[in-house]
Amino acid sequence: MSKWRVKPVSAFEADMKKSELKRVLGKWSLTAIGIGAIIGGGIFVLTGTGAYNHAGPALALSFVIAGIACVFAALCYSEFSSILPVEGSAYAYAYGTIGEVFAWIIGWGLILEYAMGSMTVAVSWSGYFNKMLHMFGISLPDYLTTDPSSYTGEGFSMNLPALLIVLFVVGILTRGTSGAAKANNFIVILKVSAVIFVIVAGLFFINMDNWSPFIPEAKTIMVDGKPHEAYGIGGVISGAAAIFFAYVGFDAVSTQAGEAINPKKDIPFAIIASLLACTALYIMVSLVLTGMMDYQNFDPQGAYPEAIKAPVAYAFDIAGQAWAGYIITIAATIGLISVLMVMIMGQSRIFLGMSKDGLIPPVFSRVHP
Ligand code: ALA
Repeated sequence: MSKWRVKPVSAFEADMKKSELKRVLGKWSLTAIGIGAIIGGGIFVLTGTGAYNHAGPALALSFVIAGIACVFAALCYSEFSSILPVEGSAYAYAYGTIGEVFAWIIGWGLILEYAMGSMTVAVSWSGYFNKMLHMFGISLPDYLTTDPSSYTGEGFSMNLPALLIVLFVVGILTRGTSGAAKANNFIVILKVSAVIFVIVAGLFFINMDNWSPFIPEAKTIMVDGKPHEAYGIGGVISGAAAIFFAYVGFDAVSTQAGEAINPKKDIPFAIIASLLACTALYIMVSLVLTGMMDYQNFDPQGAYPEAIKAPVAYAFDIAGQAWAGYIITIAATIGLISVLMVMIMGQSRIFLGMSKDGLIPPVFSRVHP
């Protein structure tokens, strides 16, 4: 059979009829899956770099621009997922339009995104988890929290918390989509509440002078010893690229189309709704952050050299509210679990979609061996 063949919609529909996936996800669970995948550590980490290296107080505009860019991609996902409400996401859309070779390439691209992405998230979860343990006076030895390639000590090492969180999440996922969605809903409620709490608490420490000028004049600053063009309209646009990671994840909703009760309506709704909700939260967090702390204080060579690494927690620390750092660390530790859960769940659905078409070994699919 030609490697360039396009899979007809009727073939996808025939596959869907044979599918043993249960349609259990309603529109709010799907929206929670989107929010669960989008909000991770990015908003708490990248905002300092975005403000100091790129946009200044206009970082909020960078979030608007990145949000608009994502909306265009989200509309494409919505359109495709309502025509092909199957589990393969962009892999299936490519197979149904431009052909098998491109679908195969995109499928492997998605495997890299979800498999490699979830490893990165597991490692970053381990970092937050260790920070949380430190807050309670507990320290794990370096050889149990560092992977062998980064370990500088003698002998054996592994990132044990990262391994355990992956096993924990896989344990939840193997109990079924419905149970996983309930766990995700719970985590999303917790992390969105934490973000809203940070926004509301931060309002009390805003100094409006920090927003003036809102778009600082473009100038060259030194970043890592090299000249770098910052601020102005150019800075707002490059800032959008710098914080884009914070939006990564909204596409994961489309991998759940095979389990949505009403996929043609609810998948587009969930993709757009989760993106808009996160954009609104991100804009507010960035406004609060740049209102609380002069963006120039995020200079790693300045008075607060550590501020750029954990900008939101630092801004509260400087305002004499160190407790916020605890809330942010706990929120990120809990919140990253749902990012990991959605990524690993999405990964298995991509494997399933590809193996149904025989493009990866059928061992990944119990449904159509
Ligand atoms: N968007 C996710 C984050 O910010 C990946 O961590």
